[in-house]
Amino acid sequence: MGAERQKAHAAAAALGYVESGMTLGLGSGSTAEIFLRLLGERIKDGLDVRGVPTSQRTAEVARENGVPLIEVDHVDHLAVTIDGADEVDGRFQLIKGGGACLLREKIIAHASDLMVVMVDESKLVDTLGKFPLPVEVDPFGFSLTAKQIYDALKKAGVNAPDVQLRRKGDGLAPLITDGGHYILDCACGAIPDAALADRYLKEIPGVVEHGLFLGLARVVIVGEDSEARVME
Ligand code: A5P
Repeated sequence: MGAERQKAHAAAAALGYVESGMTLGLGSGSTAEIFLRLLGERIKDGLDVRGVPTSQRTAEVARENGVPLIEVDHVDHLAVTIDGADEVDGRFQLIKGGGACLLREKIIAHASDLMVVMVDESKLVDTLGKFPLPVEVDPFGFSLTAKQIYDALKKAGVNAPDVQLRRKGDGLAPLITDGGHYILDCACGAIPDAALADRYLKEIPGVVEHGLFLGLARVVIVGEDSEARVME
């Protein structure tokens, strides 16, 4: 209950970054969905925006709420991406991908002039890594890739990484991302140097992308019980 209320406060404050005429990156996850519902209400009142969804689920929710969508390859400029996160540290470094949408989320955030992140208080951490780091990989040779990810994280200073294939709800079949890849969830406990982990993970051919978002978020909105705190 507390977290839901906090997410709603953060999502409402994020509307302050939206202006008529903008093309928006639309993030994924429960907080992003609250934002889409609020955005839909503003659009009914005359706000003129369009969005690029970062997942099939976000596209569905946007349509349900009357948020106009535009094909990603028809966009030449994205003003703001508004998204949630699984963890945020004091340097606005993020872990994302709990909802398996990290690749599209990163592509869109990277292409946007501004990334605004909405979180509840539970997402704030001193050091990233309590939330297992999602790494999106090509299905071909994924167990070889998993071994290389383990080595890379060790080299980046993670004590005892535990790399697990994410499975669907039935617990058997691997979860397939919107882009047709697998997710390896890497329990790290703590990631002492996120930039180093980013560098080593990117060197692995089977890694498509990972959930460390470094240097992308410029605004973090923390939903609290009675209001939202904006950090820029
Ligand atoms: C989706 O892949 C994620 O990056 C989400 O943005 C993240 O998991 C936050 O989700 P919630 O808003 O549901 O906590």
